[in-house]
Amino acid sequence: MIYLAGATSFLGKRILIRLAGNGEKVRCLARSMEARRRLEEIKLKFPDCIEIVGGNLLSPDSLVYGLKDIEKAIYVVRLEYHGYVKNFIEALRKCNVKRTVFISSTTVLIPTDIKVKKDKIKSEEYIRNSGLDYTVLRPSMIYGADGDNNFSKMLKFIRKKRFFVVFGSGENMIQPVYVEDVAKAVTGVLENSKTIKKIYELAGKYPLKYNEMLKIVRMKSNLPFKIIKLPIGISKFAVSIYKQIMKKSDLDTDQIERMKIDKVYPYNEAANDFGYSPVSFEEGIEKEISELEF
Ligand SMILES: NC(=O)c1ccc[n+]([C@@H]2O[C@H](COP(=O)([O-])OP(=O)(O)OC[C@H]3O[C@@H](n4cnc5c(N)ncnc54)[C@H](OP(=O)(O)O)[C@@H]3O)[C@@H](O)[C@H]2O)c1
Repeated sequence: MIYLAGATSFLGKRILIRLAGNGEKVRCLARSMEARRRLEEIKLKFPDCIEIVGGNLLSPDSLVYGLKDIEKAIYVVRLEYHGYVKNFIEALRKCNVKRTVFISSTTVLIPTDIKVKKDKIKSEEYIRNSGLDYTVLRPSMIYGADGDNNFSKMLKFIRKKRFFVVFGSGENMIQPVYVEDVAKAVTGVLENSKTIKKIYELAGKYPLKYNEMLKIVRMKSNLPFKIIKLPIGISKFAVSIYKQIMKKSDLDTDQIERMKIDKVYPYNEAANDFGYSPVSFEEGIEKEISELEF
């Protein structure tokens, strides 16, 4: 039996469907009635493979009951909440669960010192020192699922407004990864002892310029939309004003600053150790567009 924490996240859901689709028995952590309701919907398709169990990462003791008789565990909750990671590790130790997969992010590799990076690195340290048979996977920006917070939002915005704002020149490199490639990697490493006590970067097939990515989105979506480019300095100023007026915003000035950085991530080690072979952005975005029914 496999334990899954974070099964209701956009990535966790894909991992759950892949595991259950392969006939694996999965026990999912649900911290609320709403999470339970969402998992019950997936369970309708795989009634014999999915169990739902209560608990909350705020307390290790609340996780112990659900971890009984578990052989392997997957953790798909943001690593910046390092209190949660600590609690999860404590509960795993109590229940003698050794084999684990944790989802981190390539944010830990960006060359600026932001809080989220420091927090994720701290959690990776706990994991490395945990004594568990862990594998850490660090996906780049994930796309391909409703709720991915990246491209699904962008596509919906473009469809409605017929324009898109680029912060900076758009000449920076990105290497987004398709959600199914990440889900496949998770199930792949669980079965592969070569990956124990290792950390892998997971990115899309090739890096591409942000501007090239927009051209592909335009071509695959068949949506004519205008591109408005704003220099980084002006963008940061505009976002800080917007945040002050609206009191909240999905964007912050750090994120805009990071638009200047090339985000290119070789994945040779993952390819060698567990045959990681991701799709290109063209293939992945075509699938996302057809799923979002454009
Ligand atoms: N978005 C990207 O491009 C990207 C890139 C690289 C890596 N990732 C990784 O992908 C994963 C999913 O991302 P996300 O943004 O969807 O994650 P998230 O918002 O941190 O977490 C989502 C999951 O964690 C559960 N959760 C949160 N607090 C909990 C608690 N106290 N007790 C039990 N469960 C709790 C949520 O359950 P509820 O349903 O109850 O809220 C949900 O299932 C993360 O590990 C993230 O680092 C994302």
